[in-house]
Amino acid sequence: MAEETPRKSAEELKKIFDLTGKVAVVTGAGGTLGHALAKGLAAFGADVACWDIKTDIMEDVVADIKGLGRKATSSGVDVTDDATVKAAMEGVIKDFGKVNIMVTVAGSAGNRQPAETFDIDEWQKVMNINVRGTLLCAKYAGAEYIKQGGGGKVITIGSVRGFLGHPGGYAAYGTSKGAVHLLTKQLATEWAKHKINVNAIAPSIFWTPLTQQIKNDPEMVKIFMARIPMGRAAELDDFVGPCVFLASSASDYVTGLILSVDGGAVAG
Ligand SMILES: NC(=O)c1ccc[n+]([C@@H]2O[C@H](COP(=O)([O-])OP(=O)(O)OC[C@H]3O[C@@H](n4cnc5c(N)ncnc54)[C@H](O)[C@@H]3O)[C@@H](O)[C@H]2O)c1
Repeated sequence: MAEETPRKSAEELKKIFDLTGKVAVVTGAGGTLGHALAKGLAAFGADVACWDIKTDIMEDVVADIKGLGRKATSSGVDVTDDATVKAAMEGVIKDFGKVNIMVTVAGSAGNRQPAETFDIDEWQKVMNINVRGTLLCAKYAGAEYIKQGGGGKVITIGSVRGFLGHPGGYAAYGTSKGAVHLLTKQLATEWAKHKINVNAIAPSIFWTPLTQQIKNDPEMVKIFMARIPMGRAAELDDFVGPCVFLASSASDYVTGLILSVDGGAVAG
């Protein structure tokens, strides 16, 4: 007879999204999505270290997290700089004693341009922030998780543009997000033996400084909305549930997933 697997009680099941006692790092935390996710993780109990290259935009997110009764710190971190990310992770361990969740939100769309005249330095800048930056943050989180004896969550931010081409000048951004998706699967595969979950959230579009160029152009907005079956841009809170799921024990058997949160954009 098959051995019976121990099952959780109803009371235990109700706690599978609870992040009490967990320490999260959120990069790009001063930005639009970073702020929303840092606050969402804190609402479910996590303490949060906020990282952003701009040190002057993290006051509000830190205040929001502290307002929820959680611990918060902020650090100026350029995610493309190896030594800076390493030192920032050492700072997290010093301040919080451990790390359990890394959410790599810092990103840039750069200037969208036609492929035939794409400025290669601009292309490299986008690749550096989105791909190199994601790897460096995941790398130092993963190293700590392994040192801590295994377990831990990495959540990267991909994009619908990492799955599908677009007529609007995405040779840098789309390529970088495609790379983030594969990097996510690669890290998931390498670190599964350490019980580290690595998953991505792939949004379609939501209105932030990063998409202002599109929002300013009604024709472009029309093209984007026509490609989203739900016919609307995302609201920030649409991403909180998926992020908490991937940060919590509810997703312990989920790894290497690129979770589209896109109103059906990649469904067809
Ligand atoms: N806005 C959208 O429609 C959309 C769609 C798909 C994916 N995304 C992704 O969501 C993430 C967040 O974007 P957002 O729309 O909230 O933009 P945002 O501009 O509001 O936030 C981006 C943040 O990243 C920070 N950042 C940039 N370069 C950095 C660096 N080198 N080191 C550290 N921090 C750096 C910025 O200072 C900013 O606070 C990005 O990865 C973006 O690619 C956005």
